[in-house]
Amino acid sequence: MIIEPLRVPLIPDVVALMELGAPYITPRTYSDYWLYSEFQDIMTHPEHRRRGVTRALVDDLRKQAWVWSCRRLYLTSGPGNIAAHKTWETLGFANVRGDRFIDGVSVITDYKGPGKTRAVYELVLER
Ligand SMILES: CC(C)(COP(=O)(O)OP(=O)(O)OC[C@H]1O[C@@H](n2cnc3c(N)ncnc32)[C@H](O)[C@@H]1OP(=O)(O)O)[C@@H](O)C(=O)NCCC(=O)NCCS
Repeated sequence: MIIEPLRVPLIPDVVALMELGAPYITPRTYSDYWLYSEFQDIMTHPEHRRRGVTRALVDDLRKQAWVWSCRRLYLTSGPGNIAAHKTWETLGFANVRGDRFIDGVSVITDYKGPGKTRAVYELVLER
């Protein structure tokens, strides 16, 4: 797998890809893509899903995170995103206990601000 750091010329391609992720992914602004460096907005192009792309990405992220002395990874997904839920659980993430369930997934109400309820996932890293 080739992991390419975000560079300004790549931003239009990233925005175009993110537009394919509705309703669970919303393209951010150009300035956001330059500023953010979080484990978020993970998305595989619809024509390449279920081929292990996200599995390979998470494997690489785990290794790099360990090198950077991280011992846990967190990510969130939107309520009702069952494909994401199954992916994160399959890849070893635990669904963090929230305050209610939506579609059988534990969620934390307003986790990212008012109206932004999220399912939260945690992966404890081990060597
Ligand atoms: C969620 C998403 C990123 C998964 O990417 P992917 O590259 O297709 O995932 P992988 O092929 O690496 O799948 C790894 C495992 O996760 C599970 N999985 C992935 N997609 C699944 C689905 N739709 N239903 C059930 N299980 C699924 C499977 O166990 C899979 O292993 P397998 O194919 O050997 O059975 C992709 O569906 C996507 O881009 N969705 C739209 C954007 C989005 O919602 N992103 C998540 C935001 S938090």
